[in-house]
Amino acid sequence: MTTHTAFVLNGQPVATEVRPDTTVLDLLRDHLGRKGTKEGCAEGDCGACTILFRRGGDAEAPMLAANSCIMSVAQIDGGEIVTVEGLAGEGAVLNAVQDEMAKNGSSQCGFCTPGIAVALTGLLARNPDPDEGAIHDALAGNLCRCTGYRPIVDAAKAAAARVRIEPAPAVDENLVTSHTDAGGATAHRPRDLRGLLMLRRDHPDAVLLAGGTDLGVPLAGYETRWPETITTGHVAELRRTDTGDDHWTFGAAITWEEVLDAVGQDYPSFATLIRRFGSTQIRSMGTIGGNIGTASPIGDGPPALIALGATITLVSLEDGERTMPLENFFLDYRKTQLRADEVIASVTVPRAKVGETMRTYKISKRYDQDISTVCGAYWLAMDNGTVADIRIAYGGMAAIPTRAPNAEAALRGKVLTPETAREAGKALAADFKPLTDWRGSAVYRQRVAANLIERLARDVAGETVEVMAL
Ligand SMILES: Cc1cc2nc3c(=O)[nH]c(=O)nc-3n(C[C@H](O)[C@H](O)[C@H](O)COP(=O)(O)OP(=O)(O)OC[C@H]3O[C@@H](n4cnc5c(N)ncnc54)[C@H](O)[C@@H]3O)c2cc1C
Ligand code: FES
Ligand code: FES
Repeated sequence: MTTHTAFVLNGQPVATEVRPDTTVLDLLRDHLGRKGTKEGCAEGDCGACTILFRRGGDAEAPMLAANSCIMSVAQIDGGEIVTVEGLAGEGAVLNAVQDEMAKNGSSQCGFCTPGIAVALTGLLARNPDPDEGAIHDALAGNLCRCTGYRPIVDAAKAAAARVRIEPAPAVDENLVTSHTDAGGATAHRPRDLRGLLMLRRDHPDAVLLAGGTDLGVPLAGYETRWPETITTGHVAELRRTDTGDDHWTFGAAITWEEVLDAVGQDYPSFATLIRRFGSTQIRSMGTIGGNIGTASPIGDGPPALIALGATITLVSLEDGERTMPLENFFLDYRKTQLRADEVIASVTVPRAKVGETMRTYKISKRYDQDISTVCGAYWLAMDNGTVADIRIAYGGMAAIPTRAPNAEAALRGKVLTPETAREAGKALAADFKPLTDWRGSAVYRQRVAANLIERLARDVAGETVEVMAL
């Protein structure tokens, strides 16, 4: 029996019977006639497809910019979407952002314009008084090829000065249905962990879908279909963050935007790394559990979390919970400890203590919206100027994100100086045999990884480090 997907689009309830593995962009353009949302790259990079989205069951959450090209209909049941057609609201033609974009000459060919208007509206709804950095951050996921960003930033400032953009009202959180069957595809939407684990046991071949920012890319390219999907976005236990005096426990479906909100005070350097994680659109959907579950050797979360000494908790119906240091979770290229009947339940991260320091450095071809060539993460416990304990972890240096035991040993018990850091950099030769690929050669990676340890020493000593120049 066909069951539909119900959601709110620009303030109006909609029920659709498209397959749940249809992308939201295709739903909007091909089935609902909302052509204002554009397709540029179809892989989450350009922002032409940006919508505002609040997931069902998350009435407290703000509406956030998201890429509709890599989001599937399975994820939107009970939720709310605003497209460019709905920005102005009842009876108005343009909202303040659109009006100021017209007045400031912020558009030429216009292809990127709907996505930019939506992304900036999302920013102003959350932050009515953004500084220049926040505006640039909100635009990091929106490519404009012909206008240039100055008039776009001017429009954002003018709109912020003019009017308070009200966040859209929350939808009824009970609208989410337990599953959708349509067009030969099924999406299951468990609401609690036990329900998720039962589905995982009974449907081992189903796609386990969190934010979809990894899984959605081949879907958007029509390289795959998902006959059966289990979503984690409505599982209450996975959407919870427990904050203690000495740790946070993030449910696996906590998004990177939410992690960013939590960790910024304790770990400003980790927060800088997270701000460079994709774009607002990617961070508002992509989850901490998905980043670990995808087990990419160049994922940014794992090196930082390993350096911080994070633990991961896996859970299955049969065997209950097992917790391990995150560094033990990764076995080989894209191979992890996760069994077919298990899910990642949570990640526990120690909070900063006096005498401890943490730094992360991401080296990529572009500053914004790019994947790492090398990502280095460093945690140090200092005692009277010497390194009492240290954890160094890298992404991009091996088949898995992993620690550098020889470099760590070279620094333990030493005073951290550029000279001792250079010795530790040499020790990295025994830790890694990196690959050459189009992002960087093995020699380049090895040299960058070593240089980053010297940078750590200079950074901790208070020497200025030009972040934008990296
Ligand atoms: C344009 C773009 C830019 C990006 N930039 C970055 C970046 O800068 N740095 C970076 O590290 N990554 C980046 N990514 C990759 C991606 O955004 C992250 O890996 C993200 O955290 C994935 O989370 P998700 O919830 O979207 O995962 P999904 O795509 O939903 O799932 C990814 C994998 O994790 C598994 N999974 C999800 N939840 C669980 C769970 N609870 N238990 C077990 N398995 C689970 C899924 O089954 C799947 O195999 C980018 C992606 C795009 C498209
Ligand atoms: S079409 Fe480029 S991000 Fe979606
Ligand atoms: S106005 Fe042409 S791409 Fe931005």
